[in-house]
Order: sequence, then structure tokens, then C-alpha cells
Amino acid sequence: MKQKIAALAAIFFAPMAALFAKRDLPCKGSPQALLFAIEQVGKKIFNARSGVQRRSQRPMVGSTLMQRRSIMKQLQDKVAIVTGATSGIGQAAARLFAQEGARLIVTGRRGDALDALVAQIQQAGGEALGVAGDIRSEALAERLVALALERFGGLDIAFNNAGMTGESRSVSELPLGQWQAVLDCNLTSAFLGAKYQLPALRSRGAGSIIFTSSFVGHRVGFPGMAAYAASKAALIGLTQVIAAEEGPHGIRANALLPGGTDTPMGRAATNTPEKRAFVENLHALKRLARPEEIARAALFLASDAASFVSGTAMLVEGGVSINRS
Ligand SMILES: NC(=O)c1ccc[n+]([C@@H]2O[C@H](COP(=O)([O-])OP(=O)(O)OC[C@H]3O[C@@H](n4cnc5c(N)ncnc54)[C@H](OP(=O)(O)O)[C@@H]3O)[C@@H](O)[C@H]2O)c1
Repeated sequence: MKQKIAALAAIFFAPMAALFAKRDLPCKGSPQALLFAIEQVGKKIFNARSGVQRRSQRPMVGSTLMQRRSIMKQLQDKVAIVTGATSGIGQAAARLFAQEGARLIVTGRRGDALDALVAQIQQAGGEALGVAGDIRSEALAERLVALALERFGGLDIAFNNAGMTGESRSVSELPLGQWQAVLDCNLTSAFLGAKYQLPALRSRGAGSIIFTSSFVGHRVGFPGMAAYAASKAALIGLTQVIAAEEGPHGIRANALLPGGTDTPMGRAATNTPEKRAFVENLHALKRLARPEEIARAALFLASDAASFVSGTAMLVEGGVSINRS
């Protein structure tokens, strides 16, 4: 017992004596100096005993902050619908969203491509559910949202990305049926998607809805693409109205405008060396985008990093609109 008291006294009084003897104390030997010394020693003992607490209280700087950011997934615990997920931009976005922690409902017409995507996401430790169907169907739009609620408990993100170009014909030669088919696929499907997605997003009190528009129809008028250009330009109008209507509910709506992208759709439009060179040359960067580059922009719009971004037509087009060479 005596030994314990002696040890405690040594722990307490030795550093106090050292401090007390320090020259820079305000009034060496005064009661204030004694109190100051006791306080300092108390702090030292407390800090020594609670090393973990001290470490967590240190401000995060430099590499510590970067390390923590790098392990935080950008869409952790979010639920997302991605349309046009069987190929190109949608497929790249689905993979990236899953990698960033989102649980996904993915759709496209080709069931085999969907199965392959879902298997790939699951193998990588993600969660995804594929629903094959035609994006022009209202029943599909309703079902995708119902499944998000049923399987994953809600909806946070909708990436309405499916699209088609249609046959290349001048306006005077374009049959009404072909015009209508492109508008149904690119524009009416987006309206139908939003119609069912918005109430689900609203009930979360927040959300991000994204529409894939295009540089075509916004900055470039390509001959033979009237229906495509009209549908993509109209998506920007739809985006703006949704942003205005749903902003008070915490929902952000944005249009994403890719430049020429190296996907089956992009390759179909650049299927000769001459066409490829022409389209590449439209871009300041003199190349097509990789679908992953467009997917990263979709991730930004989907994530909290874009928490004050709404109603925009976001160009991700390699400088088409400023290029004059
Ligand atoms: N590639 C470009 O240069 C470029 C540039 C600007 C904007 N965009 C836009 O980016 C989006 C994605 O295009 P992408 O380049 O990734 O083309 P893509 O590789 O051809 O992919 C198109 C996707 O849309 C789906 N889709 C098409 N019609 C559908 C329908 N009726 N019902 C259900 N799904 C349908 C396709 O799925 P299924 O075939 O399985 O049905 C596929 O998953 C489109 O909206 C496109 O207009 C592309």
C-alpha cells in the first residue's frame, strides 16, 4: 500500500515540481502558479490514459482526410434505377454506381446482357436487379419503381439514359411513324420514368434525377437527325420544369449532354474512317469519349458532390461547343 502511495505521489508530484520550477510561470511560487501546475499535470495524466480519444480529437489534416475520403463510397446506401444499362453509357454508369455503393435496378430490352451485368455487379460484391423490358412501356416505368421500393426500400437516384437515334432521314423524307418512335423512346419514356420516380424520390425528402440528352440538338444540328435532336433538346426543357417543380422537395433534376461517345450507338454513327475522323474532329479533344468518362459525370450528378446542382444542361462533350477547327 505504502509503495502504491509513493508511486502515485511520484507520478503526480515529480512532473508538477518540474513545472513549478519552470522559469516561464507567471508568478513562480504563487498560489496561481501552483494551480496552473496542478492543471497541467492533470491534463498530462488524462491525456496519457486516453490516447485513443486524443487521436480522434486531432483535427484531420492532409493525408488522413484524403484516406478517409478515399474509403467513403459516393453512393453508399443509395438506391438507383439505371435505364439503357445493357450497353454503352448506361452499362458503364451501372458498374460505377454499384462500385460506389448503390443498390441498383437496371433495365434494357436484352435480358442476356442484363443478366451478364447483374452477375458482374454481384461478383464484385454489389447488389443489382435486372428487369428486361421496353422503355416506352408505362407498365415498365411503374414496375421499376415498385421493385426499388419492394426490394431495396426506396429510391434515391434515377438515371434515365436509354435512347436511340432512329434512321437518318431529312425532315421532308421522315415518316411520321419513325419520328414518333424516336420521340417515344427518348422523350416520352423519360416523362413516364419521371412520373413514377418522382413520388418515390419525394418520399425520401431528397433525390437526383438525370436525363441523358446530347450535344446534338443543343449545340450541333446534324442533318438527318431531326427526331433525335428534337427529343434530346426537349429533355432539357423537361429537366428544367422538374427541377423547378421538385426543388422544394429536395429533388435535383439535371440533363447530361455527352459528346460523341465510343458505344454501339456512337460507333454506328462513325462506321467509316471518314465519318469517324469527321466526328472526332468536331471535338476540341479530337476523339470520342469513353463511356466511363460520361458515367463519371453521371456519378457526380447522382452524388452529394452535386448537392447544389439542379436544372442544368451539363456539357460533357470534349469541347464540341467551343471548337472551331
Ligand atoms: N454515343 C454517343 O455518341 C451519344 C452522344 C450523346 C448522347 N448519347 C445518349 O446516351 C444514351 C446512351 O447511349 P449509348 O451511346 O450508351 O448507346 P447504346 O450503347 O446503343 O445504348 C443504348 C441503351 O438504350 C437501350 N434502349 C434503346 N432503346 C430501348 C427501348 N426501346 N427500350 C429499352 N431500352 C432501350 C439499349 O438497351 P437494349 O438494346 O437492350 O434495349 C441500350 O442499353 C442515349 O440516350 C444516347 O442518345 C449518346
